[in-house]
Amino acid sequence: MSFEYKLKKNCCDTKARVGELSTPHGKIDTPIFMPVGTKATVKSMSPEELEEIKSQIILSNTYHLYLRPGHELIEEAGGLHEFMNWEHPILTDSGGFQVFSLGDLNEITEKGVTFQSHLDGSKHFISPEKSIEIQMSLGADIIMAFDECAPYPAKRDYVKNSLERTTRWLERCIAAHTRDDQALFGIMQGGMYRDLREESAQQITQFDLPGYAIGGLSVGEPKEEMLEVLDYAPDLLPEDKPRYLMGVGTPFDLFEGVMRGVDMFDCVFPTRIARNGAVFTSHGRITIRNAKFKKDFTPLDHECDCYVCNNYTRGYIRHLIKRNEILGLRLTTYHNLYFLLDMMEKIRQAIKEDRFLEYRAQFYKKYGLEE
Ligand code: GUN
Ligand code: ZN
Repeated sequence: MSFEYKLKKNCCDTKARVGELSTPHGKIDTPIFMPVGTKATVKSMSPEELEEIKSQIILSNTYHLYLRPGHELIEEAGGLHEFMNWEHPILTDSGGFQVFSLGDLNEITEKGVTFQSHLDGSKHFISPEKSIEIQMSLGADIIMAFDECAPYPAKRDYVKNSLERTTRWLERCIAAHTRDDQALFGIMQGGMYRDLREESAQQITQFDLPGYAIGGLSVGEPKEEMLEVLDYAPDLLPEDKPRYLMGVGTPFDLFEGVMRGVDMFDCVFPTRIARNGAVFTSHGRITIRNAKFKKDFTPLDHECDCYVCNNYTRGYIRHLIKRNEILGLRLTTYHNLYFLLDMMEKIRQAIKEDRFLEYRAQFYKKYGLEE
């Protein structure tokens, strides 16, 4: 099965590029943002609504689905696409990050990771082979290698050991992966150390994989440090394969990642803040709970053309959010995802028309960001 990545256009001023990635469930235009559906649902969004806002691909999590409802059950349902009624591409993360960030870690050895469930304390073991077995059951179009993401900050020796283990685990993931209708992506680690990022990239790109990710960023480091790594990390990966920056997704991060050569992003940020009543607008983020919106009968964003902005007011949505009404978080989630996906569409269009930097400058100025 082909997972062809077609590079369509390079930006005239930056390392940004527009491309197209083919998967068994359809093509993806890159650069792309992937909404997060951790538990086989993008919280509060129906698949029809996701289609309406032009989501091309969504992300789900091995760790959560393995614990509940269990990958065997999802396999029995016909796989994740069938189970959740989503006909378009899906990417699953390997669990290699979630066991470190969510699970109560018991032991990391060369074999794999023993952890206790964050749900009921039950003990589990996930190895590279197990992660691939789970991801084959789930049946996503793109699956991720089981990696070890070093915390921040971490000593050089620690980071070096974890990136080298990540390479050995990648080799085992490749050996265990037998579905040819799924693309397995490798993950670069190396923390904030340039030479270690180089070592990791050199090692993982020895395997001819359909795509590569940059892991170990947005783990609590200052923004400048992340950008410093992004200044060189994408260049260490093949130009003719998609590059995925894991767990990153504020409007600023998306622009900055795109201009450094990143093609794919995912983040809970837009959906998580939506549930707290924070929404993107073309003039910056606002908190809809604020008293100043009480009698504001205008849309969330005057320039947004989404269903929510066409039909509801700030004052009404503020009321819903403050009263914990379900519709409130549905509307803010819908709008935030629409806003980011629309921004990515405009970024792709701007790159194609050789005016990416101009669009970025214009967006930043209005949004209140500094270049
Ligand atoms: N999500 C965010 N960062 C990472 C990472 O380093 N590895 C994995 N597997 N998932 C992530
Ligand atoms: Zn809107």
